[in-house]
Amino acid sequence: MKISSKDILNFLKTKREISLLFIVSKPQVTSHTIFLLIYATMEKAFASCLLTHLLLHYAMASSAMTHTNITTDQLALLSLKSQIISDPFHFLDESWSPAISVCHWVGVTCGSRHQRVKSLNLSNLALMGSIPRDFGNLTFLATLDLGSNNFHGNLPQEMARLHRLKFLDISFNNFIGEVPSWFGFLHELQVLNLGYNSFTGSIPSSFSNISTLETLNLRSNFIEGQIPKVIGSLINLRELNLRGNKLIGSIPLSLLNASRLESLDISFNSLEGNIPERIGNLHNLNELGIQFNKLTGSIPLSIFNISKIEVIAFTGNSLSGILPNGLCNHLQILKELYLHKNNFHGHMPTSLSNCSELQLLDLSVNDFDGPIHSGIGRLSNLQKLSLKYNHFTGIIPISIFNISSLQYLILRRNNVSGYLPREIDNLTKMQMLDLSENMFIGEIPKEISNLIELEGIDLAYNSFSGSLAMEIFNISGLRKISLSFNNLSGTIPSNIGSVLPNIEELYLMGLTYLVGTIPHSISNCSKLTILELSYNQLRKT
Ligand SMILES: *[C@@H]1O[C@H](CO)[C@@H](O)[C@H](O)[C@H]1NC(C)=O
Ligand SMILES: *[C@@H]1O[C@H](CO)[C@@H](O)[C@H](O)[C@H]1NC(C)=O
Ligand SMILES: *[C@@H]1O[C@H](CO)[C@@H](O)[C@H](O)[C@H]1NC(C)=O
Ligand SMILES: *[C@@H]1O[C@H](CO)[C@@H](O)[C@H](O)[C@H]1NC(C)=O
Ligand SMILES: *[C@@H]1O[C@H](CO)[C@@H](O)[C@H](O)[C@H]1NC(C)=O
Ligand SMILES: *[C@@H]1O[C@H](CO)[C@@H](O)[C@H](O)[C@H]1NC(C)=O
Ligand SMILES: *[C@@H]1O[C@H](CO)[C@@H](O)[C@H](O)[C@H]1NC(C)=O
Ligand SMILES: *[C@@H]1O[C@H](CO)[C@@H](O)[C@H](O)[C@H]1NC(C)=O
Ligand SMILES: *[C@@H]1O[C@H](CO)[C@@H](O)[C@H](O)[C@H]1NC(C)=O
Ligand SMILES: *[C@@H]1O[C@H](CO)[C@@H](O)[C@H](O)[C@H]1NC(C)=O
Ligand SMILES: *[C@@H]1O[C@H](CO)[C@@H](O)[C@H](O)[C@H]1NC(C)=O
Ligand SMILES: *[C@@H]1O[C@H](CO)[C@@H](O)[C@H](O)[C@H]1NC(C)=O
Repeated sequence: MKISSKDILNFLKTKREISLLFIVSKPQVTSHTIFLLIYATMEKAFASCLLTHLLLHYAMASSAMTHTNITTDQLALLSLKSQIISDPFHFLDESWSPAISVCHWVGVTCGSRHQRVKSLNLSNLALMGSIPRDFGNLTFLATLDLGSNNFHGNLPQEMARLHRLKFLDISFNNFIGEVPSWFGFLHELQVLNLGYNSFTGSIPSSFSNISTLETLNLRSNFIEGQIPKVIGSLINLRELNLRGNKLIGSIPLSLLNASRLESLDISFNSLEGNIPERIGNLHNLNELGIQFNKLTGSIPLSIFNISKIEVIAFTGNSLSGILPNGLCNHLQILKELYLHKNNFHGHMPTSLSNCSELQLLDLSVNDFDGPIHSGIGRLSNLQKLSLKYNHFTGIIPISIFNISSLQYLILRRNNVSGYLPREIDNLTKMQMLDLSENMFIGEIPKEISNLIELEGIDLAYNSFSGSLAMEIFNISGLRKISLSFNNLSGTIPSNIGSVLPNIEELYLMGLTYLVGTIPHSISNCSKLTILELSYNQLRKT
């Protein structure tokens, strides 16, 4: 166990909460002194903690530690193999045999200098099993990738001895137990990925000891408590992902000290309070995700300083205020802006056209009002635009039909009025067009039939008039058509079965001038699950 006395002193300096401490010295074991640090916090039962740690001590102090060689590694790996209860593709069955040199086993790489196991990569092999205590004997291990398997159980405490580890990825498994505080002993760790497991407990403040850490990913576990303040001392951190846990409290201001952060995702927790005023300190951020928390307040103007930002995801909070006009003048490489399900109000900023890299703009479910700014037409990379559930008024700016990359145009429930222009035929990549619950008038332009990628069209609850001309929906990929509650007249075309082979949902409700019969060919629409035809003049045959 290569924990030096210096390490322990450093550790103690940062740990005021330690209330109980034992240092056991075994100078006879090796040339360097072995320390065992045992600590327990007041919250924990003293007896059980002491017992656990004494067992750990016993394991560490035994004489096997003195001479370790490749045989030690082989035994540790065979011990791991013995804990694997399912290896459906027989990766280890065949290769992990004492007859073959360990360094040639599947997933194993040895260092050229020491001829010891340096890297173990068993990722994505569908292995099921647990990690044995002996695993801690692989003391030359620098890279451990067990990601995307079915490993379960606790991580053995003995793994604290893997002090050469730089890369540890055990994501997408079924590990349980509290997030181990002994990670704090792995002083060379650069990547720690525990994502998609069932870890519980809080984020140990001992993480602050891993000053080399560049990636910390705890995504999709059951981690509770606050984000510890000391996490801001991880000044080498590039990626912090705490998404999908049970974290509470506010975003610690100390985090703003981790100014090398490129990706910060704390979405899907229960964090409260404001977005820190000085968020702009994180000027290297490329992605900022705080979605689905309980954050309040407005967007701090310091965000303008994060000129490298490409993704802003603020969905599902209680943020308010306006969308600052300067946003697009400063954040010119912004690609995705998610603000839906908040309490933002005010107009669409006039500077919007300066966000010329924007691919996704979601302002839906807020209180925005005023016109859809014509500058939007200059967003020539836009693929998804959703403004639904706001109070936008005026007409659709004609410039929007210049955005040939547009795939989703969602304006549901606003007060947009006027005609749907025939220039719609420019939007040949369109997959979903939802203009429902607005005040559109006039005919549905027959140019719609040029939108050959269209999968869904919803024009319900408007004042479209004229001939229903269902023939124009002869786009074979269409899965949903809703024209309900308009002033459309006409008949359902007799060949509907051949022109809409993939239709799943057809809503033609409340079309008081819809006449004729339901064509027989509809029986060929074999995927149809919803056919809504009430409130019209259709006759039974
Ligand atoms: C490893 O060390 C043990 C004794 O400590 C010895 O028996 C064994 O032969 C050694 N293995 C190798 C590959 O050197
Ligand atoms: C691992 O090390 C412990 C002591 O540190 C020893 O008791 C055990 O036998 C070792 N396991 C293997 C598989 O070599
Ligand atoms: C482990 O192997 C997989 C598949 O070959 C690879 O994608 C992954 O990057 C490797 N992990 C490491 C840490 O090299
Ligand atoms: C940020 O780092 C500075 C210098 O290391 C330190 O003085 C300050 O307390 C830290 N700020 C926070 C909020 O932790
Ligand atoms: C942006 O950064 C500059 C210099 O780093 C600073 O002077 C300015 O106050 C910051 N602006 C905002 C809005 O935080
Ligand atoms: C776009 O940004 C530039 C530079 O910040 C600014 O001069 C210009 O007025 C902006 N355009 C709009 C429409 O706001
Ligand atoms: C549309 O305008 C009417 C009348 O001003 C108003 O009552 C209604 O709430 C508005 N709808 C939306 C979605 O803003
Ligand atoms: C469409 O784009 C072209 C080329 O960028 C431009 O010349 C034209 O004015 C635009 N049309 C509208 C209506 O914005
Ligand atoms: C339709 O597309 C053409 C070619 O891309 C473009 O020149 C024209 O301006 C577009 N029409 C509108 C209304 O944007
Ligand atoms: C679809 O209908 C339109 C208008 O009726 C017609 O111009 C077009 O050729 C039809 N397309 C197909 C693929 O049948
Ligand atoms: C609805 O359509 C009918 C028949 O086409 C027409 O007579 C009537 O004026 C229309 N009503 C409105 C409000 O557009
Ligand atoms: C259904 O499709 C088949 C094959 O295209 C065709 O022969 C048949 O007449 C169609 N049925 C109806 C009721 O249109």
